[in-house]
Amino acid sequence: MQHPRDLARANIPSLRKPRSEDGAAIWELVRACKPLDENSMYCNLIQCDHFADTCVVAELKGEVVGWISAYVMPNDPETLFVWQVAVSEKARGMGLGTLMLKSILDRAECDDVERIQTTITSDNEASWALFRKFGKTQGTGLDVQPYYTQALHFQNRHETENLVTIPLAQSLARAA
Ligand SMILES: CC(C)(COP(=O)(O)OP(=O)(O)OC[C@H]1O[C@@H](n2cnc3c(N)ncnc32)[C@H](O)[C@@H]1OP(=O)(O)O)[C@@H](O)C(=O)NCCC(=O)NCCS
Repeated sequence: MQHPRDLARANIPSLRKPRSEDGAAIWELVRACKPLDENSMYCNLIQCDHFADTCVVAELKGEVVGWISAYVMPNDPETLFVWQVAVSEKARGMGLGTLMLKSILDRAECDDVERIQTTITSDNEASWALFRKFGKTQGTGLDVQPYYTQALHFQNRHETENLVTIPLAQSLARAA
């Protein structure tokens, strides 16, 4: 018989850096997480392979149930850009999105990161809730500005993406 502690652990997703072999499962997860833009499988492979240090996979019983793609901006090493956050329906509402974001920022590769940025369309309530909550935990709030606009950047095929900037509490503490 399994120890209750081991049973409890078996139901907690484990977080780790991705490997290229995860690319296909991540591609499927992103496709299942509407309204995320679908990527090519190749795009997810590259993210897993080249950007593993700033991406995270959540696994539950061998299944990929969570994913964040992110990278340190090539022209701004103090900013972590969060590209996509995906949590499988079966793992939502347990704080996994927040946990994954924090786990990336806790890595040594993010020691110099002072803020995160992401883009969110106006109607993505779950995404706003996730990042508002993160802003609250940092005590710094959100700066929001229209960025990739429907008419100018998307030929009216996609809603405007608002650029959201959240300074990290640790960076403000360092500056004080
Ligand atoms: C957005 C998403 C990643 C959130 O994942 P999650 O693990 O359920 O998020 P968390 O449990 O960490 O929730 C963080 C906060 O957001 C809130 N939240 C999550 N989903 C929500 C929803 N659909 N509507 C309103 N609030 C929501 C939670 O209640 C929580 O706040 P609280 O602790 O004050 O209650 C997940 O719903 C998802 O994959 N959605 C589809 C893809 C998507 O839109 N991704 C975001 C693009 S970046």
